[in-house]
Amino acid sequence: MVLAGLLLLLLTLLAGAHLLWGRWKLRNLHLPPLVPGFLHLLQPNLPIHLLSLTQKLGPVYRLRLGLQEVVVLNSKRTIEEAMIRKWVDFAGRPQIPSYKLVSQRCQDISLGDYSLLWKAHKKLTRSALLLGTRSSMEPWVEQLTQEFCERMRVQAGAPVTIQKEFSLLTCSIICYLTFGDKVKEDTLVHAFHDCVQDLMKTWDHWSIQILDMVPFLRLFPNPGLWRLKKAIENRDHMVEKQLRRHKESMVAGQWRDMMDYMLQGVGRQRVEEGPGQLLEGHVHMSVVDLFIGGTETTASTLSWAVAFLLHHPEIQRRLQEELDRELGPGASCSGVTYKDRARLPLLNATIAEVLRLRPVVPLALPHRTTRPSSIFGYDIPEGMVVIPNLQGAHLDETVWEQPHEFRPDRFLEPGANTSALAFGCGARVCLGESLARLELFVVLLRLLQAFTLLPPPGGALPSLQPDPYCGVNLKVQPFQVRLQPRGVEAGLGEHQCQ
Ligand code: HEM
Ligand SMILES: *[C@@H]1O[C@H](CO)[C@@H](O)[C@H](O)[C@H]1NC(C)=O
Ligand SMILES: *[C@@H]1O[C@H](CO)[C@@H](O)[C@H](O)[C@H]1NC(C)=O
Repeated sequence: MVLAGLLLLLLTLLAGAHLLWGRWKLRNLHLPPLVPGFLHLLQPNLPIHLLSLTQKLGPVYRLRLGLQEVVVLNSKRTIEEAMIRKWVDFAGRPQIPSYKLVSQRCQDISLGDYSLLWKAHKKLTRSALLLGTRSSMEPWVEQLTQEFCERMRVQAGAPVTIQKEFSLLTCSIICYLTFGDKVKEDTLVHAFHDCVQDLMKTWDHWSIQILDMVPFLRLFPNPGLWRLKKAIENRDHMVEKQLRRHKESMVAGQWRDMMDYMLQGVGRQRVEEGPGQLLEGHVHMSVVDLFIGGTETTASTLSWAVAFLLHHPEIQRRLQEELDRELGPGASCSGVTYKDRARLPLLNATIAEVLRLRPVVPLALPHRTTRPSSIFGYDIPEGMVVIPNLQGAHLDETVWEQPHEFRPDRFLEPGANTSALAFGCGARVCLGESLARLELFVVLLRLLQAFTLLPPPGGALPSLQPDPYCGVNLKVQPFQVRLQPRGVEAGLGEHQCQ
C-alpha cells in the first residue's frame, strides 16, 4: 500500500515537473488552446468526444492523453494543411515503447519514424502491391471472392456471422498476393488469420497500452507483455518460413508474388545511391504490415456495409437494380471490372458513404512533427504528437448535411463537392488504399449480385454503434445475416462469372 502510494506520488511529481519544463520551453509560441482534464482516453467514443470539443475551441486544440500532450486536428481543411501542404513537417511517428517492441528496431512502415530509408521502404512495398502481383491484383481478388460466394451459397439462408467470413477472405487475399498461389492449403490462411487476431488482441490489451503511458511499469512482471512477446515470436517464425521458401525457389529477374518482388528489390538497391540499405528485415516487416494493416480494416468496413444495408433495404434494392441493369442475367458478368465502376454509381457512392460514416481507423495512427511548423495559424513545436480525427472531419456539419445519416445519394447529387479521408492523406496515406477500394468494390458487387441480405429470423438488426471493447478502431458489434441466394428467388438460375 505504502509503496503504491509512494509510487503514485513520485509519478505525479514527475508529471508535474515534466509539464512545467514543457511550459517554460514553449512560452513564446502561439500554441493551440489547451483542453482541461486528463481522462479523455476513458471516453467510450473518443473520435466523437474529440469532435464535440471543437464547438468551444475550434478545429485545432491541444489535450492530454495520459501523460502525453497531443494536438488534435478535427477538420478536413486542417488535416490536409498538415498532411499534404506541410507533409514533411507532419510525417513522423512517435516512438513509443510498444511500437519498438512490435516492429523489430522500427524497420516498419506503419510505425517507423520518417526518414529517407523509410520512404524507400514504403515505395518498394507500394510497387510490390501494384507491380509485384503479376498482371494485377484484380483477378486474385475476383477469384477468391467467387470462392467465398460459393461457400456462402452452400449455407443458403442460414444465419452467418459475416465478420469472421470477411476476415478470412481478406486474409486469404493478402496471403495469395504476398506468398503466391503455392499457398493452396487453407491451413496457411487460417494460421495467418489466427496469428493476426492474436497479435491485435494482445497488443490492444490494457496492460500493454498502459506501458506506453507509464513506461517504467515495465520493471514489474506483466503477463500481457509476455503474451505479446510470444505472439510476436510466432509471427516472426511464420514470416521467416515463407522468406526461406521464397529464397530457395526464386528465379532472378522473375517474380511470382509480392515477396519475390520485394526480396529482389532489396537486392537490386545499390548502397551508394540510397539513403541506407534496405534489408531482408524490411521485407519481413512489410509482410507484417500488409497483414496487420490489410485484413481486419477491410473486413470491418465490409461488415459495416452489410450492417448499414440491413438497416436500409431500400438502398439494397436499388443497388441490386443497378447491378441487374448493368450486368444482369443477359449481360456478360466478366465485362465489369473495377475500371468500369463509373457504370455502378450507386455502389460507388454506397462504399464512399460507409467509409465516411465508419472510417475504421478513425484517428489514423499518431503523427509526430519532424520540425517546428504551424497549422491554422497556431505554432506547432517539433516533436509534437498530432492526431488527425478523420471521423470527426467526416461528421463536420459545415461540410456535410445531416452528417450522421447514412445517405449514399449525397455523393450522387450535382453539388456533391467533397470527399472523405478514410485512408488519411499525404506521405502517411494508407499503403493499401488501392487494394482496399478494389476489395470493397468486388466483394460487395459479387455479394449483392448473388444474395439478398436479410436479418436473421426474428428480425434483429445489427447495432450501428461501434463495439466499445475494441479500442479506438471502429468495429461493428457481432451480428448475423442471412444470405438468400438471388438466382433462385428471381428464377434466373445461378449467376456464374468466370
Ligand atoms: C478499408 C480499409 C482500410 C482503411 C480504412 C485504412 C485506413 C488507414 C489509415 C487511416 C491509415 C493511417 C494514415 C495516417 O497515419 O495518417 C492507414 C495506414 C496504413 N495502412 Fe491502411 N487502411 C485500410 C486498408 C489497408 C490495406 C488493405 C493495407 C495493406 C494491404 C493497409 C496498409 C496500411 C499501412 C502499411 C499503413 C501505414 C502507412 C504509413 O505509416 O505510411 N491498409 N490505413
Ligand atoms: C466514386 O465516388 C466518389 C465519391 O463521390 C467520387 O469521388 C468518385 O469520382 C467516384 N468514382 C467513380 C468512378 O464514379
Ligand atoms: C459543399 O460545401 C459547402 C461548404 O464547404 C457546403 O455548405 C455545402 O453543403 C456542400 N455541398 C454538399 C452537397 O455537400
